[in-house]
Amino acid sequence: MLGTYLRNYLDMDKLVIRGGNPLLGTIRVSGAKNAALPAMAAAILTEEPVILENIPQVRDIETTRKLLAEMGAEVELGYGRAQHRTTICCRNLASPEASYELVKTMRASTLVLGPLVARCGRARVSLPGGCAIGARPVDLHIKGLERLGAVITQEHGFIEASAKRLRGAEIVFDKITVTGTEDLLMAAVLAEGESIMLNCAREPEVADLADLLNKMGAQVEGAGTSTIRVKGVSRLHGAKHRIIPDRIEAGTFIIAGALTGGDLNVAGCDPRHFMALLQKLEEAGVKTAHSADAVRVIGGPSRAADVVTEEYPGFPTDMQAQYMALATQANGTSIITENIFENRFMHAQELVRMGASIKIEGRRAVVRGRTPLSAAAVLASDLRASASLVLAALVAEGESIIDRVYHIDRGYEHIEEKLRGVGAQIRRIGEMLPKKVAAPVVRA
Ligand code: EPZ
Repeated sequence: MLGTYLRNYLDMDKLVIRGGNPLLGTIRVSGAKNAALPAMAAAILTEEPVILENIPQVRDIETTRKLLAEMGAEVELGYGRAQHRTTICCRNLASPEASYELVKTMRASTLVLGPLVARCGRARVSLPGGCAIGARPVDLHIKGLERLGAVITQEHGFIEASAKRLRGAEIVFDKITVTGTEDLLMAAVLAEGESIMLNCAREPEVADLADLLNKMGAQVEGAGTSTIRVKGVSRLHGAKHRIIPDRIEAGTFIIAGALTGGDLNVAGCDPRHFMALLQKLEEAGVKTAHSADAVRVIGGPSRAADVVTEEYPGFPTDMQAQYMALATQANGTSIITENIFENRFMHAQELVRMGASIKIEGRRAVVRGRTPLSAAAVLASDLRASASLVLAALVAEGESIIDRVYHIDRGYEHIEEKLRGVGAQIRRIGEMLPKKVAAPVVRA
């Protein structure tokens, strides 16, 4: 009761941004949320402790902590240390279930399905339902688990899966799915015999998960390519692993630097993970220079460049909204085609309210630039849409207020502190709880 009351207040947080300041200096990238989530789920696969470093302090991580804790796992989120170390011990998994209460707030909760069946022989996971950016079914997770020998039923909004021991199999994904690949990979590592997975997602987060699994004693080859081979083992052990940097957070900051026309060094990232973005920015006339672990961005876009979102290594759907903010400041017409999700243009109308010229035609957004942006009160609809509004506000004239900031807190660690550190005028209002509540320190 009290939790709901406080959460309602927390959800009233707003970001107030006064545009116009060039961003100058160095901004540091956190660990990748989308690599950390499957890594935490992978801890289910062993009775021994798994130590994960570079875990970002964001709300989805806290949701995953709750999810694992409800099953009986011990999870220590140690944000007091520089390395953001988390220790997860799944010795006792008394209740291999994921409740609707948690799954409805984070679809990535379905990542526990594969590891739970593999380790416990059964799992009961709530179906996630629709989402702001598209229908996002989980049929491919289910089909893949059935190929591995699980018996699956769907009742009362839950997926129930059981298998005495999963058996290795050949799985061909009908469509490329990131968490689907990760879920089935985690199931296959404890299956009896060999699995071959074809048409897999090639995202760096999949390769990072395979690295962790191999450290735990799994035998996985080919992760990061479209064919993954797994030799099943009977048990896995504990391991220590450092999560890769967040390529989407890095890309968001690079666009912030480009938009504000400063001189920004985005440090602690891996530019090899976002070459499609860097190439597109070059096409749009943005000047960047990169080393092995940083990107320096000097100056904004000079011309329009079209974008088509694709699976990795193509241009990521998770950068589409942020790129749209940039396109409003490029000279000419940019056509942005969203191929991955059917409803991922919710930010467009909010950008229009700030002065952008954007027309949506089905899966295409036609952005005419350059239009000056003026501050407005806007509403964030999902994680990356919120990032796009923050970016627009950084160059808009006047003071913008971005509502429903809880979306941004799901995936960006202390965004206002980081941006303020490089000269942005940004503050949070409406807080009833300390900022770091998004992911509380359980033990330092
Ligand atoms: C992952 O979601 C990311 N989430 C998303 O990041 C990202 O937008 C998405 O991949 C695409 O890159 C995590 O990694 C935790 P998909 P995921 O399964 O795995 C369809 C962010 O902002 N599909 O690769 O759920 C689906 O509807 C987020 O950080 C099926 O049809 O996405 C979509 O059209 C949001 N059946 C396409 O595949 C299935 O069973 C790709 O989705 C599964 C997916």
